[in-house]
Amino acid sequence: ARFERAFGDVGLTYAAKAFWCVSLAELIAGTRWLVDVVSEGERAVAAAGGIGPSRQVVHGNVKTDRELEAAIADGVHRLVVDGTDEMRRLVAVAAGRPVDVLLRLNVDVAADTHPKIRTTGAAAQFGMTVEQADDALAQVVDGITVRGVHVHIGSQLRQPRLHAEALTAIGHFVEGRRDRFSEVYDLDVGGGFPVAYLRSDVVPPIEAFADAILEACSEFPNARLIVEPGRSVVANAGVSLYSVVSRKEANPPFLAVDGGLSDNPRPSMYGAGYEMVLANAPTDPHDSPFRVVGRHCETGDQLGEALLPSGAAAGDLLVMAATGAYGFSMSSRYNLLPRRPVVFVADGEFEVVVPGETLDDLVR
Ligand code: LLP
Repeated sequence: ARFERAFGDVGLTYAAKAFWCVSLAELIAGTRWLVDVVSEGERAVAAAGGIGPSRQVVHGNVKTDRELEAAIADGVHRLVVDGTDEMRRLVAVAAGRPVDVLLRLNVDVAADTHPKIRTTGAAAQFGMTVEQADDALAQVVDGITVRGVHVHIGSQLRQPRLHAEALTAIGHFVEGRRDRFSEVYDLDVGGGFPVAYLRSDVVPPIEAFADAILEACSEFPNARLIVEPGRSVVANAGVSLYSVVSRKEANPPFLAVDGGLSDNPRPSMYGAGYEMVLANAPTDPHDSPFRVVGRHCETGDQLGEALLPSGAAAGDLLVMAATGAYGFSMSSRYNLLPRRPVVFVADGEFEVVVPGETLDDLVR
């Protein structure tokens, strides 16, 4: 709702990769949002939740011929072409059937973020240079309609002007090739809106991004703006609940929990930090340093340093905040821990929306 208020009448698209399950799809189905999906799996969950092909934007730098075929046959809203070779394969698979596409550009905007979540520049495998996009345009045949251009420069971007610069770059690309696009065209500026993970994190509010992007877009009166937030929709809606299983004296002491990088790889992948609180003693002074570790056989499975009550020990419940994005969705089965359930909570009620995996699931 806050995105709708801040951006107004633009194409809001939720990036399913941040967190996806049928119950969330059902919630989004009741809104005007579209959904960014990158695999048959994400598409299947969207469909199961009532978000059909006409509300699906198919992304990804790898789309197999089977996925291209399904997207065309189903008539998805947009298919985002990631490269010249993909355009060649799309032309072959479509064989004259209609498909509405966007071209993904790799623009030269230096996203100031962790290198692993930067998606532009020569080191990133996503999208096309201007020359490649021109090559892709030259390959377009009847049936394929290029509806506009897409860019996603990275995640957890803290400067609204970067989104504005990226939007301006793709707008100029279209305006410089007016005959290749219809009168009204899409400018999709991707996601990447930041959230605060730690108390010390200061990030601009979504309204600041909306203002900067809408202002940049006003230079292109024929553009239909699209934004694709993932993290900023779900991160702060989620927490992870762990049991403390053991404590080991060290300086600071280790507190080991019944999970770790299999349910949240972000600390080990990106050095991401989180706030933690003992759920069974939330008002006790949280003033003693601990190193909270997971249960996987990796020195890197450390969830982070935290100030917790000095007596924190086995049997306590530990809450990690703001884990709603890219935790569950990036979970793995390392060391064959069953994946944990997802529980929706509101107004004092709860519902298990994704049951936890069982040993039978693992054996299967
Ligand atoms: N659109 C496209 C084309 C994307 O690739 C992504 C994210 C988004 C939108 C949504 O970005 P967001 O608003 O969530 O930043 N696993 C990493 C994040 C990877 C993001 C990949 N693409 C992490 O945990 O930080």
